[in-house]
Amino acid sequence: MVLEDVPPAPRGYDSPLEIGGVRLSGRLVMAPMAGYTNLPFRRLVSGQGAAMVCTEMVSSQALVRRHEKTYAIMKSEAAEKPVSIQLFGADPVQMGEAAAMVEEAGADIIDLNCGCPVKKITKNQAGSALLCNPDRAGEVVASMVRSVRKPVTVKMRTGWDTVGKNDAERFARTVEDAGAAAITVHGRTRQAFFSGGVDMETIALVKRAVSVPVLGNGSILTPGDAIRMIEATGVDGLMIGRGAIGNPWIFSRLTQWIRTGELPPPPSMRERLEMTLRHLRGLVELLGERQAVLNGRKHLAAYTKGISGSAAFREAVNRLEAIEAVMSATARFFEGAMEERGLKTPGRSGAAANRAEPESLHAA
Ligand SMILES: Cc1cc2nc3c(=O)[nH]c(=O)nc-3n(C[C@H](O)[C@H](O)[C@H](O)COP(=O)(O)O)c2cc1C
Repeated sequence: MVLEDVPPAPRGYDSPLEIGGVRLSGRLVMAPMAGYTNLPFRRLVSGQGAAMVCTEMVSSQALVRRHEKTYAIMKSEAAEKPVSIQLFGADPVQMGEAAAMVEEAGADIIDLNCGCPVKKITKNQAGSALLCNPDRAGEVVASMVRSVRKPVTVKMRTGWDTVGKNDAERFARTVEDAGAAAITVHGRTRQAFFSGGVDMETIALVKRAVSVPVLGNGSILTPGDAIRMIEATGVDGLMIGRGAIGNPWIFSRLTQWIRTGELPPPPSMRERLEMTLRHLRGLVELLGERQAVLNGRKHLAAYTKGISGSAAFREAVNRLEAIEAVMSATARFFEGAMEERGLKTPGRSGAAANRAEPESLHAA
């Protein structure tokens, strides 16, 4: 495995970013991820310096019908601010109403999902289906903007499929004209879902087409990925999704690199253990024991990825139902990894052995 050289830090990226009057302390923000970016996870990435966090997407329909579950998704706290709450839906009137409710719930920014590729969403003309209907997207944004005082932003993909990708510029201009205060572009089409290369060219076209801030998104895991995105597109900020799963440190490490040009070492096993336990405790607090155990499994897999014995650990922990048992097993697993790396064995140098140097900024 060849480690990537750490490139020089990008110029101008250590300054704040303003979105519709909301000041972000930096230019690295957390992506919305359904099933992941609930309050406990957002709290951890905020703690590591993410300049903005975003909730999981919220259904405008469920919200206006006051479904209780949507309130749990929107729950936020002062320490994670600014927080963006993301809505999906395609009915301008309903989206206006939902936006007002989201503002009332404490959002600093209200984001419109124009990227979700899942059929359940697109068959109702929402998510990435809006890319095929820019005029409707414009009406939705305009209605949201009229209904709230907080900035409304848009998260889009490069297009529905490769054929229509040049429509990205038109789409971006339409939502900007309707009042969007910033646009994030995930550099893939709807047809690509979450795999394949990131289309920097189309992100660059969008950046040039509008005057509001544009954030680039897609497979940013290393300083190299970050600098390639910034240089190829000129985006004002970066949005990071999967690179932060099991790895909230991606924000602190990239931030430090941006400020100093130097990439801090990856987290130690002890730090990984502490972060994992903090995450689990947060999940229990928000979701209760049963759901915390279930939701925690994928995070545990991510926090332990790449450490020897992690497959067996996952298999064992996935059979546990009590959170105390999950936490003890997790502690034992990391303690074992520390021992294996010589941390507890006299005569072997602990500090270096304790850190797994990753190829990417993923903690594994
Ligand atoms: C499990 C998962 C859930 C996601 N949920 C959402 C969502 O609710 N809203 C949204 O706009 N994008 C969602 N996305 C897309 C991400 O925000 C992001 O655009 C995409 O993963 C590409 O960025 P990345 O390569 O840094 O992960 C999701 C992605 C994943 C992997």
